[in-house]
Amino acid sequence: MSEPVIEVRNVTTVLGRATIHRDLSLSVNANEVLAIIGGSGSGKTTLLRLMLGLERPTAGEVRILGQVLGECAHSELDRVRHRWGVLFQQGALFSSLTVFDNVALPLRELGGVSKEMITRLVMRKLAQVGLAGGDALKLPAELSGGMIKRVSLARALILDPQLLFLDEPTAGLDPASSKKFVQLIEAMRAEMKLTVVMITHDVDTLFALVDRVAVLADKHLVALGTLGEVVRQQHPFINTFFLGHADRCAEENLRHYRVELSTASLLEQEM
Ligand SMILES: Nc1ncnc2c1ncn2[C@@H]1O[C@H](COP(=O)(O)OP(=O)(O)O)[C@@H](O)[C@H]1O
Ligand SMILES: [Mg+2]
Repeated sequence: MSEPVIEVRNVTTVLGRATIHRDLSLSVNANEVLAIIGGSGSGKTTLLRLMLGLERPTAGEVRILGQVLGECAHSELDRVRHRWGVLFQQGALFSSLTVFDNVALPLRELGGVSKEMITRLVMRKLAQVGLAGGDALKLPAELSGGMIKRVSLARALILDPQLLFLDEPTAGLDPASSKKFVQLIEAMRAEMKLTVVMITHDVDTLFALVDRVAVLADKHLVALGTLGEVVRQQHPFINTFFLGHADRCAEENLRHYRVELSTASLLEQEM
């Protein structure tokens, strides 16, 4: 088993006077898609910000790609920072920059990349996320919600990171655009062999993408496991969250049991 890509160890986070997380531990493995769910204000975005080094834990530590955030020198931090991409909740495109310039930004900040190379990389990434060449010169105000998400994803992936963070990637999209965007995330994940940490409150997104789910409530991680495992936990938030999805949960459970069964029979055969 390889080393976890992210390790959150006994983290307590106090912001202002409020304790947001209390003694929270969690690892993210290479090539998995982990979703963080929890009620509004339960500390999901703060947990993501801790993983990105944008927030410091009050106690405990966060290790990402082998580096303890807060302990490494700036140059070291810059080096690991290029290995992840982030899609923030509010798209966060620069409204005065064209699609091309928005996506090119991380490459220009990196420096040392020729103009021709930037053009090639940006146009290739735009095509990968399903945008036409002609979209490159548009301004964000000229784009639909789905297109803005695609541009943001292109920018998050322009440096070919190994890790992708998504905060509510489908929030604000209509069901059809949401489904298409989820398919795109899955395609990019497979193609780029990404490890993905995602915050979502959308059950469809969860069922389509995740390997494991972490549930934040009462300042703690109240559940962590596959969907099949998590839906079986008795917790008010979990019960409400998955309410009305009993059939799918049953299917997830079945799939889980089938895996358990096949593992068990394999073990028997080996013995
Ligand atoms: N910089 C901050 N200072 C004080 N409180 C904050 C700060 N950022 C977030 N909070 C509070 O922390 C709690 C968790 O916020 P957040 O992580 O954004 O929750 P979520 O993403 O789960 O909705 C909220 O009660 C929020 O008001
Ligand atoms: Mg949030």
